[in-house]
Amino acid sequence: MTRTPGVSSGAFPRQPLAQPGIDQRLAVDVLPDADAVAARVAELLLHERQQRPQRPLGLATGRTMEPVYAALATRWAALSGAERQRLTKGWQSFNLDEYVGLGRHDPGSFAAEMEGRLVEPLGLNWTRVGLPNGLAPDPVAEAHRYGASVQAAGGIGLQLLGLGLNGHVGFNEPPCEAHQPCHALRLSSDTRAANAGAFGGVISAVPERAITLGMAEILAAERIVLVVTGPTKARVLQRLLNEPPNRELPASWLQRHPSTQVIVDEAAWNGG
Ligand code: GLP
Repeated sequence: MTRTPGVSSGAFPRQPLAQPGIDQRLAVDVLPDADAVAARVAELLLHERQQRPQRPLGLATGRTMEPVYAALATRWAALSGAERQRLTKGWQSFNLDEYVGLGRHDPGSFAAEMEGRLVEPLGLNWTRVGLPNGLAPDPVAEAHRYGASVQAAGGIGLQLLGLGLNGHVGFNEPPCEAHQPCHALRLSSDTRAANAGAFGGVISAVPERAITLGMAEILAAERIVLVVTGPTKARVLQRLLNEPPNRELPASWLQRHPSTQVIVDEAAWNGG
């Protein structure tokens, strides 16, 4: 089911403004549960790789993405050996973000998460899977380098996004401008608390800084898929659908993107 709050439904519509100042561009697909969402998103990712292998994928980490990568790995395993080889050879992806101070061998790093959920199950080559280097001695310079490498690859084709409880996408914490490029930043205490699960529940173990692609690179993607599941995301999802684009809710800048699809489960939609 596709719903665009306040206006008629349809995929990626250019809708008349429902309220002054609100750009109602976001189409929302509401699916029964997180498994159905994961299946839909995995299909989109696989289709993108198969149809447009020359366009880099933009990838995200986090709990929302765990079933997505599991569903992708299942579909990947069902492909013929020749098809897997073709897709592996042409693979190119860039992750959104990484913690400063963590490398691939730190279990809390996003690189480790990608290794376990994507690189190993799909048999990918690490040289084709981009992430910011959390161990770079100068995180600011690394952010510049990483942003430039995305640009040199022609930018992102399909960008996958999760949604933080405070409205962040990637690690673009509020307040955040739409034109900000890849940067190093200090994480909010809310975000560190939300992500403590990957660090044994110890908030102080969550790194204080991170490197993230900015809204500039995200909004430059040809197509964006924002995935929101679970009742804890209901409030921020409603904010996203009802507030005009503003710096206090970084995801709200997605309303200005011409091709953003929001895929949610009933729990995130209804809050229960
Ligand atoms: C994290 C990550 C994001 C992620 C979001 C939601 O902090 N930096 O890339 O999409 O917040 O995370 P989760 O899916 O675990 O709720």
